[in-house]
Amino acid sequence: MSSSTILHAAFFAVGALIGGGVATAVSNKRSLPVVTPATKSGTSAPPPIVVELAPTTGLTHIATPGALVKVDSTVLKHGHPGPINDLLVRKAYASGYDRRLRHPSWTAEHLTLASLGKSAAGGRSGDETGDRSKSNFSEDESIPSLFRAKLQDYFRSGYDRGHMVPAADAKFSQEAMNETFLLTNIAPQVGAGFNRHYWAYLEDWCRRLTGTFADVYVFTVPLYLPKLDSDGKWRVHHEVIGQPPNVSVPTHFAKVVLTSKPSSPATPQILEISTGAFVLPNAEIPDQTPLENFVVPGQSL
Ligand SMILES: *[C@@H]1O[C@H](CO)[C@@H](O)[C@H](O)[C@H]1NC(C)=O
Ligand SMILES: *[C@@H]1O[C@H](CO)[C@@H](O)[C@H](O)[C@H]1NC(C)=O
Ligand SMILES: *[C@@H]1O[C@H](CO)[C@@H](O)[C@H](O)[C@H]1NC(C)=O
Repeated sequence: MSSSTILHAAFFAVGALIGGGVATAVSNKRSLPVVTPATKSGTSAPPPIVVELAPTTGLTHIATPGALVKVDSTVLKHGHPGPINDLLVRKAYASGYDRRLRHPSWTAEHLTLASLGKSAAGGRSGDETGDRSKSNFSEDESIPSLFRAKLQDYFRSGYDRGHMVPAADAKFSQEAMNETFLLTNIAPQVGAGFNRHYWAYLEDWCRRLTGTFADVYVFTVPLYLPKLDSDGKWRVHHEVIGQPPNVSVPTHFAKVVLTSKPSSPATPQILEISTGAFVLPNAEIPDQTPLENFVVPGQSL
């Protein structure tokens, strides 16, 4: 990391952490009692439905409830056109893949000091093994070739291969880090001023929340938002990269952060839950822009 990048990151942190610490951007504090294992098992959500799909490929997918269920209809006897909800469960994250857009529909991760290979005192715990120079971007062979994002699609596209789950969140093993380089974790991002700068600071800010909160959950979501045209109508415009064009370029990216920590040392069983949601344009963002500018109400996502 160059020193100017560190300076930018520090500036960003100060800008974002003014006031009640992290809480300025992570808001809507609520105190929730911990769900005890007893209640959990009593009222547990229905288990995910495992469906055998696409007999032609013989692939097994895990579909979330409602996404793909057996319908007793002769119309759908030979299947339905989808969309197929590829649920990918990896060492450092889980994600959904969008076969039409050829990038993730969402990614989810759980960060803790331990998962980041840091001790509570702030130092390195020493068991960090993932090294990004030992990883390479690769196509995800768990997706049928026709629907896969290809390395060729990004070549000379003018966009960075932007990690949705950052490599730096998966330093606990080389295998976990390698999985963040699969193209099912990648979406086209503007490089200078976004992927390499402001977006990277936001990722770092999420990691640093683990210093304040025991558990940090981060969801990253590529978005396509409408823009007001000069004729007064709202339209969604987006580029598609590749030759032939295959991979869609999101107009925006959202990060939704949920944190939890014991509400006080005397009441460790009562968790304090905080949430924050940010929507950033896939565009160059000046370093000094306050993170608060991108805060959106969580339910709008
Ligand atoms: C990554 O790919 C480059 C170019 O193909 C190659 O030179 C390099 O050795 C690869 N790195 C690893 C760790 O495989
Ligand atoms: C990580 O990826 C690199 C480059 O693709 C490969 O050479 C290496 O064997 C992988 N390591 C693990 C642990 O999977
Ligand atoms: C996507 O790319 C493949 C080649 O990698 C090509 O065969 C296909 O026509 C492209 N477009 C679509 C919509 O699949």
